[in-house]
Amino acid sequence: MTQILDGKAIAARLRADIAAEVPRLGFTPGLAVVLVGEDPASQVYVSSKGKATIEVGFRSIEHKLPATTSEAELLALVTKLNGNPDVDGILVQLPLPAHINADRVIAAIDPDKDVDGFHPINAGRLATGLPGLVPCTPRGSVKLLQEWKRDLSGLHAVVVGRSNIVGKPVAQLLLQANCTVTIAHSKTRDLAALCRTADVLVAAIGRPEALGREHVKEGAAVIDVGINRITGPDGKNRLVGDVAYAEVAPMTAAITPVPGGVGPMTIACLLENTLIAAKRRRAL
Ligand code: GUN
Repeated sequence: MTQILDGKAIAARLRADIAAEVPRLGFTPGLAVVLVGEDPASQVYVSSKGKATIEVGFRSIEHKLPATTSEAELLALVTKLNGNPDVDGILVQLPLPAHINADRVIAAIDPDKDVDGFHPINAGRLATGLPGLVPCTPRGSVKLLQEWKRDLSGLHAVVVGRSNIVGKPVAQLLLQANCTVTIAHSKTRDLAALCRTADVLVAAIGRPEALGREHVKEGAAVIDVGINRITGPDGKNRLVGDVAYAEVAPMTAAITPVPGGVGPMTIACLLENTLIAAKRRRAL
């Protein structure tokens, strides 16, 4: 029997736990989200984040800036948010317009308010096992995996994709959980044969249904981080993952659906990171 890892339900539980803690804190955590430009997908993400922030009882601070905003103006806003005691978490929505260097903007965020966990200091803390802020999607992915098996020790995890946002941090978290970790990418030779050695397969490629039955060992757990919008044969748009779910799911011990798998976990983990940052800043 395949276990469907229901991210929607697990994320709702996590958000309820956070909401239950807020009245006991004695202060209201604040999350600042910065959106530059009018990218439609980013607008949807930012509005979902704002709604979820208010629902758990946090303060939501939204800055929506025009696409013409200069890098210097954005850096000045980040500096102001760094110094604002009511702001516990800062998230600058990516992608940024092409004239702005995202690396410089991320590096300007106070690492202790970097609820995305993208600052090089937090990447370094994760790699060395120091306490820090961990990227939300990787954290959500591993939480889902642990709904299948609490103890992942000794399992072979293959992570397909090596981005700083998902592939590399998810590999670090799996290593911390005592998996043997292989990171595969576009230059990997015989990807299918490698993936078939995985007890845990994490797909973070960004290509619709790129992994099929030939990539999966019978009884493996599959975490699908992909969210790809495709036009179906009926002309309608739909969301699919990086894994061909219909053909792969029956062979697996556990799998995340798309939508409703990793996606909802990302926002829940963002709220959790905001709570962690807020408590640490007050030495709680
Ligand atoms: N764009 C798509 N996903 C993310 C995310 O997790 N954080 C930020 N800042 N931008 C994104």
